[in-house]
Amino acid sequence: MSEKVYPVSGDWAKRAWVDQAKYQAMYADSVKDPASFWGEQGKRIDWIKPYTKVKDVSYAPGAVSIKWFEDGQTNVALNCVDRHLATRGDQTAIIWEGDDPNESKLITYRQLHEEVCRFANVLKAHGVKKGDRVTIYLPMIPEAAYAMLACARVGAIHSIVFGGFSPDSLASRIEDAASAVVITADEGLRGGRKVPLKANVDAAADKVDCLKTVLVVRRTGGSIAMKEGRDVWYDEAAAKASTDCPVEPMNAEDPLFLLYTSGSTGKPKGVVHTTGGYLVYAAMTHQYVFDYHYGDVYWCTADVGWVTGHSYIVYGPLANGATTLMFEGIPTYPSISRFWDVVDKHKVNIFYTAPTAIRSLMAAGEEPVKKTSRASLRLLGSVGEPINPEAWEWYYRVVGDNRCPIVDTWWQTETGGILISPLPGATAQKPGSATLPFFGVQPQVVDAEGKVLEGPCEGNLVIADSWPGQMRTVYGDHQRFMETYFATYPNKYFTGDGCRRDADGYYWITGRVDDVINVSGHRMGTAEVESALVAHPKVSEAAVVGYPHDIKGQGIYAYVTLMTGEEPTEALRKELVTWVRKEIGPIASPDLIQFAPGLPKTRSGKIMRRILRKIAEDEFGSLGDTSTLADPGVVNDLIDNRQNKR
Ligand code: PRX
Repeated sequence: MSEKVYPVSGDWAKRAWVDQAKYQAMYADSVKDPASFWGEQGKRIDWIKPYTKVKDVSYAPGAVSIKWFEDGQTNVALNCVDRHLATRGDQTAIIWEGDDPNESKLITYRQLHEEVCRFANVLKAHGVKKGDRVTIYLPMIPEAAYAMLACARVGAIHSIVFGGFSPDSLASRIEDAASAVVITADEGLRGGRKVPLKANVDAAADKVDCLKTVLVVRRTGGSIAMKEGRDVWYDEAAAKASTDCPVEPMNAEDPLFLLYTSGSTGKPKGVVHTTGGYLVYAAMTHQYVFDYHYGDVYWCTADVGWVTGHSYIVYGPLANGATTLMFEGIPTYPSISRFWDVVDKHKVNIFYTAPTAIRSLMAAGEEPVKKTSRASLRLLGSVGEPINPEAWEWYYRVVGDNRCPIVDTWWQTETGGILISPLPGATAQKPGSATLPFFGVQPQVVDAEGKVLEGPCEGNLVIADSWPGQMRTVYGDHQRFMETYFATYPNKYFTGDGCRRDADGYYWITGRVDDVINVSGHRMGTAEVESALVAHPKVSEAAVVGYPHDIKGQGIYAYVTLMTGEEPTEALRKELVTWVRKEIGPIASPDLIQFAPGLPKTRSGKIMRRILRKIAEDEFGSLGDTSTLADPGVVNDLIDNRQNKR
C-alpha cells in the first residue's frame, strides 16, 4: 500500500470551510456531546415545527431504535426548493447534460419549484397520499429529480429502481413496497442506445397485483404500448396540473425513501431513510466534504438509482442551494473524453465519480484527458469501492493536474451519507485511504470476537454510535434490520467491511468481509446470482464468489454444477450469462463461469466459499485446511479446470 502523503495546501486550508484545527475541535465536540452538536447542526434546514429532542437511539440487542429530531416537523421539498426562491430563484439548480452532447438544459430554482409542484399535483390526481410508496424507474432526466421531490412534497415514499435492473428485479421491488404507482419513461438513452424502460415495466406489471397506475415520461418518442386505464402520459397529465402545491408537513422520522440493496443472504432489502436526520446529514456532508461554496458547479456522475445519486445529486446539493449537474450518458460516448468535455462545457468545479470509471478511462491513456482544459476543476471525489493507489495517482496527476485534492469517501446505502473521508482543507491525503471520520462518526476496528482493537490494527469496521443519516429499518422487517447490522457485534453497527487503521489513525477500507461483492461499484449479493443460476433448468447447483478484476474492481465468478446428463458446452455458458442478465439485470452478468462436477463441501453439506474464492483469485497455494471436506479430491479438479487460467 502506498504511504505517500499529500499535504493540505495553504490556499486550501485558508479558503475551505474547515481547516485542520477546526476539524479536530469540531470532531471532539461532536463525539463528546452528540445531542448538543447535532442540535446546532439541525438548524441548517428549515423546520415547520422546531424539534426539542435531538437524539434518541438504542443499539441494544433486540431493541434497536434510532430517532433523530423526532418531535420536529419539516418537508424535504420545502428545504430543497422553496426556501431558495427568495434568495436564489434565478440561480441554476440543475444543469442537465443529455446523452447526446448537443442536448443540455439549465433549470433554475424557480423552474424547479414549478416542475415539482406540477408533478406533485399529478401524483395527487392519481390518488397518491402521504405514506404511499411510489416506484421510480426513470433514466437520468430532470423528471427523475422532479419525481423524487414531488413525492417528498406530498409525503409519499419513493423507491427508485436503477434502469439496469430486469423486469423480475423491478417486479419484486414493486411488490415488496406494495407500490400502486410506477413512474417510468418510454425509453432511456445511454451511449446512443435505447433502454426499453416502459416495456420492462409492462413485463414487471404482469407479475404484481398492487400496481394501478404507470406514469410515462416521454423521453425518446419511441413507440411503446399504453394500457388503457393503467398507463398515463406524464406530459398530458402535467399540462392540466397546477404549479401550486402546498408542502405536506412531515415528522422528522417519517420515511423519505426506500432503496433496495443487496446483502449476504436472501432478497435485496428495502433500506428505509427518514426525513429530518437524513437531510441534515446529506446537506452537511455535501457542504464540508466537497467544500461547497455558493456558485460552485458540482457534478456527481452517479445514477439516481443508487444512494450516491439520492444524497449527492439531489438531496444534499439542493438542500444547500447548489448547482448540481445531472448527466444522462456514459463516460465513453460519443468519445472517451466525454467527462472532461462536460467539465469544460459547464465549467465544473467539483467532480465526484467511481474508481471503476477512473480505471477504465486510465486504460485509454492520458491523451483523451490532456486534450481538454479542466481548468475549472478544484476538487475531485471518489466513491463506491476502494480506489487503488495507481488509479488515485492517475486521477490526481492526469485529471486534476496535480492541483485538486481527492476526497475518497467511504459510505454505504445504509449510512445515508459519507462517514469516512478527507476534508479538503483539513486532511492530508494518502492514496487509497478514506482517511478520517466525519463529524459525529465513531468508527472502531474489532476482531472476529468483537474485541475493540486499539492503535494500528486490522479487522472489521463497526460504528459505535448513531449519526442522523443512518438507516432506520428494513422496510417491513425490523427483525432483519437488527439481525443484519446489530447482532454480529452487539451494541454496534456492523458495516460488513474489513479495514486497517494505520499509525496516523487513518482508515483503509479493504472490502467486504461478507458474501457481498462490489462489481464496478455496484453491490451484488452472491446469493442472488446463485439463486438466479439454479433457477435455470439445466443447473443443479451454483456457488458465486468475487475475484480481482482490473477495471471492475471485482468480477463475478460462478461455479456451476449441471444436472446429470447435461453437457458443459460453450453455448450453455453463454446461455447462462444471458439467463442471469434476464433474471437480475445486466449488472449481474457473470464474468467467468466454470462448470464444476462437484463443489467443495463440508461433511454437513456447507459449501466452503473460502476455497472457491482462493481458486478464483488464483491463490492455489493458500487454500488452507481442506481436510474437513467431504471429498477433498474436488479441489484438485477445480484447480485443474479453473476457467481462463492465467
Ligand atoms: O464495501 C464498501 C464499498 O461499497 C459498499 C457500499 O456499497 P453501496 O451500499 O452500494 O454504496 C456505495 C456508495 C456509497 C461499502 O460497504 N465502498 C463504498 N465507498 C468506498 C467503499 N470501499 C472503499 N472505499 C470507498 N470510498
